[in-house]
Amino acid sequence: MTVQQNISLKKYNTFDIDVNAKFFCEVNTVSELREVLQMKEYADKFIISGGSNMLLTKNIDALVVHIHIKGKEVISETEDHIHLKVMAGENWHEMVLSTLERGYGGLENMSLIPGNTGTAPIQNIGAYGVELKDVFVSCEAMNIGTQEMRNFTKEDCQFGYRDSYFKNEGNGKYIITSVTLELSKRNHSLNTSYGAIKTELEQQGITVPSIKAISNAVIAIRQSKLPDPAIIGNSGSFFKNPVVSRVAFEQFQKNYPEAPFYKVSEDSYKIPAGWLIEQCGFKGKRFGDAGVHHKQALVLVNYGKASGQEILNLANTIIRAVKEKFSIQIKPEVNIIK
Ligand code: EPU
Repeated sequence: MTVQQNISLKKYNTFDIDVNAKFFCEVNTVSELREVLQMKEYADKFIISGGSNMLLTKNIDALVVHIHIKGKEVISETEDHIHLKVMAGENWHEMVLSTLERGYGGLENMSLIPGNTGTAPIQNIGAYGVELKDVFVSCEAMNIGTQEMRNFTKEDCQFGYRDSYFKNEGNGKYIITSVTLELSKRNHSLNTSYGAIKTELEQQGITVPSIKAISNAVIAIRQSKLPDPAIIGNSGSFFKNPVVSRVAFEQFQKNYPEAPFYKVSEDSYKIPAGWLIEQCGFKGKRFGDAGVHHKQALVLVNYGKASGQEILNLANTIIRAVKEKFSIQIKPEVNIIK
């Protein structure tokens, strides 16, 4: 394990923000991670994994630890299910594809989500009607301060919409080293409730979809409206969809009857931030190299040389405009590193 100096983090974050790490090292095993965390000579450590949910706005004056711990293991199995333990540094989408190839169901709707498996629980990743919590069994994490390992059950993780214990009380305290998922071997419970999936399958003439067909439909939908971070820097949805009370929603709907919405509970409604942002005229707009994606206004993009601060300025301008027009506060989904 070598510690390097002044390393550009451009290739370690999907926004392609070119800031430097004062010190940088990569860990390949849990014991290497422990060793690094015990290095007293580097007081401050900053953890980076897939780098797909962060906006770096300045150089990192710390030891940046890149989590590169690989491996997958079936830890238990019945006729119906497997429990698959996936190490944190496994790329999420490659892992999803490998489970589908083996005929295991559960992850198909979450195909093509950027990032690594170890960070999936932090924001309870989700797409097309399925969230990580639906397949999650447990995860192992190292306490940054004591280097002790702790097992987190689903309950411990306190999952919510793009939210978990790791974004709240646990923020900055743990590094997730592996995630255990429960996947189905047969009688898969397919989720095709999401409108776009139905339409995509119909267009492909598929009436009885397989898990692979759903995955392919999700991939086609994502490719048609979300930018590929390998081609243009981005972090997926930059904002969360705001959840408002029924009273606020009824008022909003009176003014904007055409607005799309999802009912979350009797007293709460989610309004797509992408719609709100588009209504404010930002969709497809570009300010220098920072922009709003032309097919999905929820996604901010880096056309090349945007700084993290420029992306952040654009985000703040959007937040203010949405607040002014709709009196709705939208919040970033990505972690902003200031
Ligand atoms: N919409 C617009 N304009 C836009 C974007 C969306 O009017 O520019 C409208 C759409 O027409 C639709 C509604 O908003 O009626 C919802 O749009 P979409 O189905 O694209 O989903 P979303 O709510 O914008 C969420 C997730 C995505 C996930 C999709 C599908 C969040 C913050 N985002 O987006 O997650 O892929 O649903 O499940 O919840 C991510 O987290 O990085 C991500 C891409």
